[in-house]
Amino acid sequence: MTATATLRKPEPAHAAAPGAAEIAIDHASKVFGTGEGAVVALEDVTVTIPSGQFVCLLGPSGCGKSTLLNAIAGFSPLTSGTIRMAGRPVVDPGPDRGMVFQEYALFPWMTVEQNIRFGLDIKGVGRGEADAIVARIAGTLGLSDFLGRFPKDLSGGMRQRVAIARILALDPPVMLMDEPFGALDALTRRTLQDELLRIWAEYRKTIVFVTHSIEEAIYLADRIVVLTYRPGRMKRDLTVPLARPRDTASAEFNALKRELAGLVMEEQQRFTQAELTGSAVD
Ligand SMILES: Nc1ncnc2c1ncn2[C@@H]1O[C@H](COP(=O)(O)OP(=O)(O)OP(=O)(O)O)[C@@H](O)[C@H]1O
Ligand SMILES: [Mg+2]
Repeated sequence: MTATATLRKPEPAHAAAPGAAEIAIDHASKVFGTGEGAVVALEDVTVTIPSGQFVCLLGPSGCGKSTLLNAIAGFSPLTSGTIRMAGRPVVDPGPDRGMVFQEYALFPWMTVEQNIRFGLDIKGVGRGEADAIVARIAGTLGLSDFLGRFPKDLSGGMRQRVAIARILALDPPVMLMDEPFGALDALTRRTLQDELLRIWAEYRKTIVFVTHSIEEAIYLADRIVVLTYRPGRMKRDLTVPLARPRDTASAEFNALKRELAGLVMEEQQRFTQAELTGSAVD
């Protein structure tokens, strides 16, 4: 499935109210440990992500991408600063934020259908309604013929479809994704990127997507936030001015790629230097 120029569809009935999914990150800092061994993973990051925006967090290993995403998810509190979701401080995980990880966090003892249905059961959604949601979401992600399979019998790409379906079934306004396609081969990755763009447009989610890949960030995002390596500060906040579907071979795409590569490489060199001097713990 290829993303089309008509990505933005009319507002579906279940869409969140404007502003309902705004994420306001204000002077966010996070320090792991204390004393000599303390690691400043994030320092004074301030960024507001409007409802419906697709944002990529980009930077080399150890620059605090997962730390920031986990703080938005409510998994790991900040040391100082605040994160507000639709105006309310984030203090713990909530049904308004769904997380997709790189390592296909599926229940291996459950079938695809049971994995997708799991959150609905916890939420107390009635059987008939849950059946309808599972069928619709499975259809959306091309999983209808795989509902009886177990995760071990699926390819990496299919497993990641299930992970996305599981979150989508709960219909959170915000999807947080930590290198979800990092372990996939290039063609599967592109297919899932296109599917994600389609889903984002159709369901009007706010997406915060972590990646190492400059090309992936430019292909997907409305906006790219580049972080520095230790401490993780905001290095650049860049709007991607390209219309979708994006042509990765175009001159504009490649100009942006060069610009971002310069920024990321500066931080990558700091990471490499830290590794050589033994101060990196990644
Ligand atoms: N629980 C922890 N205890 C101590 N240090 C940590 C912990 N989690 C992360 N760090 C450190 O904080 C820094 C930021 O880590 P983080 O995982 O957010 O980076 P990242 O950008 O997601 O990297 P990667 O691309 O490798 O996933 C790193 O230096 C890491 O070693
Ligand atoms: Mg990470």
